Amino acid sequence: MVDEQDQALSEIAAAATLADLEAIRVAKLGKAGTITALLKMLGGMTPEQRQAEGPKIHALREAATAAIADRKAALEAAALDARLATETLDMSLAVSNGSQGSVHPVSQVMDELAEIFADLGFAVATGPEIEDDWHNFTALNIPETHPARAMHDTFYFPDGEDGAKKMLLRTHTSPVQIRTMLNQKPPIRIIAPGRTYRSDSDATHTPMFHQVEGLVIDRGIHMGHLKWTLETFVKAFFERDDIVLRLRPSFFPFTEPSAEVDVGFTWDKGRRVIGGDPAVGNGGWMEILGSGMVHPKVIAACGLDPDEWQGFAFGCGIDRLAMLKYGMDDLRAFFDGDLRWLKHYGFAALDVPTLSGGVGA
Ligand code: PHE
Repeated sequence: MVDEQDQALSEIAAAATLADLEAIRVAKLGKAGTITALLKMLGGMTPEQRQAEGPKIHALREAATAAIADRKAALEAAALDARLATETLDMSLAVSNGSQGSVHPVSQVMDELAEIFADLGFAVATGPEIEDDWHNFTALNIPETHPARAMHDTFYFPDGEDGAKKMLLRTHTSPVQIRTMLNQKPPIRIIAPGRTYRSDSDATHTPMFHQVEGLVIDRGIHMGHLKWTLETFVKAFFERDDIVLRLRPSFFPFTEPSAEVDVGFTWDKGRRVIGGDPAVGNGGWMEILGSGMVHPKVIAACGLDPDEWQGFAFGCGIDRLAMLKYGMDDLRAFFDGDLRWLKHYGFAALDVPTLSGGVGA
């Protein structure tokens, strides 16, 4: 019996392939196998013989079964290693059948904005999309009872535990003004692009959309700085020098005075284009952003002295900028995730906007 066991174990250890091992398994443990034959002999033994031989035969079967399983695992691991050693993937190879993915126009426009404003000395700031009431409204001079709260069609979160802050999805990027003024000392020059949310939906409104906020805080800042900055930005963005802007008096609780900014458009071969003299032909004005001088109450709410520090701010819809520049007409298509739309309007991954090469495609 001991001989039989040694014999079986050495044969199993010597099996060079999975097929050899399977042949050994059948020869030992199969229906007509040698170990199976020993097991069958137990039936014909006297109880005394069986008591003596039984445990040995069972131990033999278990040892052989375990050895086969071990050898099988070792042979499989070796086969995998051999395959891994021969199969290689050349990561340096260029994609051969054209590019698969593309950069969404909103991402591309955000990159263009960062590039243009970096050249003017603006850093990019970010803030959370889940905001509290104070940053989104109160600190921006929109108190609890202010009608602007209703105008914003805010998505509120369900009430938390007692005393927990009321949370909401930010309705604009303006809370990033507050977070920036609280976290860094003036002078401040930032833009803050990102997602914003309002309960609103039609061809020109989606519940989630994108804005870019601009904020400058320094000494002696006035409306002239605001107008120059916006003109420089819009000219660089639309890549035309003949851009005409119109500042219309408006109202925002967080700016005083406030101005809505329109850009002049003209027509070229039946297509509306930004730029040119809006007084000519069928030209006209299109609203592109809200702006103004940061309200002294907002500056004070951030712990700064409004007598020392002034500034301007603006907020602009990024999706709308993209639509105007790249000629898309339905905002909802931006967020459908339709690959055909992305193939048509998307940008190549290496099409990085630069001022020298042109920010647009
Ligand atoms: N937050 C305003 C909006 O969403 C835009 C704005 C920003 C206006 C900054 C003035 C200054 O409509």
